[in-house]
Amino acid sequence: MVQELNAYELKALNYELLLKDILTAAEKLPPFPDVAWKVLGLIRKMASVREIEAVIKFDPTIAARVLSLSQSAYYQRLRKVTSLQEAIMVLGNQKLVEVVLAACAAHYFRGQISGYRLNEQALWRHSVAVAIMAEKLAQEFRKKKVLTAYTAGLLHDIGKTVLDLYAKIYLHVDLSQIRKGGVQFIEAERRALGIDHQELGQIIARRWQFPLEVTVAIGNHHFPQKAKTDQDMAAIVHAADRMVNAMEGEEGARDVLDPASDPVFKAMGIDAQKVERFQAELAEALEGIVTFLKNDA
Ligand SMILES: [Fe+2]
Ligand SMILES: [Fe+2]
Repeated sequence: MVQELNAYELKALNYELLLKDILTAAEKLPPFPDVAWKVLGLIRKMASVREIEAVIKFDPTIAARVLSLSQSAYYQRLRKVTSLQEAIMVLGNQKLVEVVLAACAAHYFRGQISGYRLNEQALWRHSVAVAIMAEKLAQEFRKKKVLTAYTAGLLHDIGKTVLDLYAKIYLHVDLSQIRKGGVQFIEAERRALGIDHQELGQIIARRWQFPLEVTVAIGNHHFPQKAKTDQDMAAIVHAADRMVNAMEGEEGARDVLDPASDPVFKAMGIDAQKVERFQAELAEALEGIVTFLKNDA
């Protein structure tokens, strides 16, 4: 005899299946491109420009991005950069790794994965902005770990690329609308889908074999105090995210940020004046990389 499930049991089963589907989708994301680790390895062993070029030139998208960024106003070049070798030298090690990481990450934000192009374009711009802001904070407060902060910033919302798709298909909900509503959207995500974008992002980054500091910062970027290790990195990404959110969107619909009443900002010593300075510097940086932000290469 087949036993019928009651409404509550059916709901619980659906919920469980949905979570399973989400985790499988995260599992199936293509691995983070090899070229990122190769370039990082070459730079660590202080390889020559020629060797680095040899790795990059076989990936046309990345080669194009390296060239385009080296020509952007952000780097204030007075003369035209004409070759990949020259671009590699112009960028320098730190920026080169950042560009390669961003070029690799861009793929996951490009709509081929979820098909929701508009949201993902905005999410991509947001991610690059948070990466640059996190880099600034790391420079200001910790001196080292700049690349770690940039990477964690770049990928902090990667969980959204999978979560948003599932919310739309299964629940017909637009999570970006919930997030705008100012409610505790992390809790809303968890209630609706059984997992939130921080936790899912941490799972994805772990699978891609990013270092612990990066995965912890992604997994705790909304509540850095909850991180069991590497709270500093989580706090940097949190502060960067909040400052960027306060700059995004229409006037009147932006997130309000009051650093004086925020414990993370207070602990980091970021007051309203500093927020303003960081935001102005970021706006300037973003202006210099407009093409890079379009992410349609
Ligand atoms: Fe987030
Ligand atoms: Fe974010």
